[in-house]
Amino acid sequence: MHFDPWNPEFVAHPYDVYAELRRERPVSFFEPTGQWLVARHADVNTLLRDRRLGRSYLHVAGHAEFGRPDDPEFQDPFWRVIRAGMLDVEPPVHTRLRRLVSKAFTPRMVEALRPKVARLAGDLVDRFAERGGGDLISEVAEPLPVTVIAEMLGVPEADRHLLRPWSADICGMYELNPSVEAQHTAVRAASEFSDYLVGLARARRADPGDDLISALAQVTDDGDTLTEEELVGTCVLLLNAGHEATVNVTGNGWWSLLRNPGELERLRADHGLLPTAIEELMRWDTPLQMFERWVLEDISVGGVDIPRGSEVALLFGSANRDPEVFDDPDRLDVGRRDNPHISFGAGIHFCLGAPLARVELAESFGALLRRAPKMELAAEPEWGPGYVIRGLESLQVRI
Ligand code: HEM
Repeated sequence: MHFDPWNPEFVAHPYDVYAELRRERPVSFFEPTGQWLVARHADVNTLLRDRRLGRSYLHVAGHAEFGRPDDPEFQDPFWRVIRAGMLDVEPPVHTRLRRLVSKAFTPRMVEALRPKVARLAGDLVDRFAERGGGDLISEVAEPLPVTVIAEMLGVPEADRHLLRPWSADICGMYELNPSVEAQHTAVRAASEFSDYLVGLARARRADPGDDLISALAQVTDDGDTLTEEELVGTCVLLLNAGHEATVNVTGNGWWSLLRNPGELERLRADHGLLPTAIEELMRWDTPLQMFERWVLEDISVGGVDIPRGSEVALLFGSANRDPEVFDDPDRLDVGRRDNPHISFGAGIHFCLGAPLARVELAESFGALLRRAPKMELAAEPEWGPGYVIRGLESLQVRI
């Protein structure tokens, strides 16, 4: 097999192909997407921190200068929302947006949320266990992070069912070479989501509550504030980034444990291993398999010259199995101590929600370990179609 992100077999087992890439072609051109694949941990880690690359190039050049076509007009509503959030901009705009939003995500703020997250996780797991199990993804993995981020932002309970489908449709655009249909679906979802949030933001600006949308709509001490477009872009980003990967770490993580019964037993016997186990599950089966960067100035990676205007695809899933960095990398070791995995990224776009994600994962894995100490697989799970955002369709378990 070779690197083939549209092939379900590759998506299910990408790690042998990654090993071959790291050994034989650590930096290689991938014709079908026109990107340079980067497979080694050292290179991925360095490039994420290298300011000669960016998530966007639009702050330094137009599409034509980078040899790219203009965005088709029908995609306007999508790009307006996406490029108003911090993830798709570079400094100085990125610095400003991240500063305005980051106050809500400091480790201290997030630690204060722990009792609430623990209560939510406990309730979900109690109900799941009382039913004797079911689909762990739709009944525990999804509702926990969706509820947490929706409550933080102040999205009314009655509207929360809308969030997951909007988010999933928008994320379709992040896969490699999305179909025209997926593009239209993403544009429609971005429009609807944005209209919804404009309404909510206006209501909160007029009548502030004790929630993050109200806080983000206020002017800060130094007189800065988010524009309405930035506020909407930020909320869409937080709602999407705030749950997609967490759902997949929960699903992929339990599937990894169930496939490695020795490690599951070790964790069941010693819940004190939970913090290292969660980091290891994020490393061993990486939920976001790759992230892209534009090359803003000529660079050289592992002896390969990559000119300005190129795009690199940083293979996080491969970096996380690199034997240069991890001892016995293909082994799942819930007690692994030295674990510089790259699943939260690195550099200026390092995941803003990492402390929150860690709290959510610790509480949901912890609740399941305590409440369902004999949980077992009820059916062989299937991978969803996504490669970039990679997760199981469902995970049927028996308690
Ligand atoms: C286990 C769960 C999560 C994983 C694996 C994850 C992973 C990532 C990664 C890899 C990036 C950087 C992307 C890049 O450099 O191109 C990122 C950025 C981001 N994440 Fe997370 N994330 C998780 C959970 C969360 C949560 C819970 C939130 C918020 C509530 C969140 C909010 C963000 C934001 C706002 C950014 C953009 C940061 C910036 O551009 O400066 N993430 N995440």
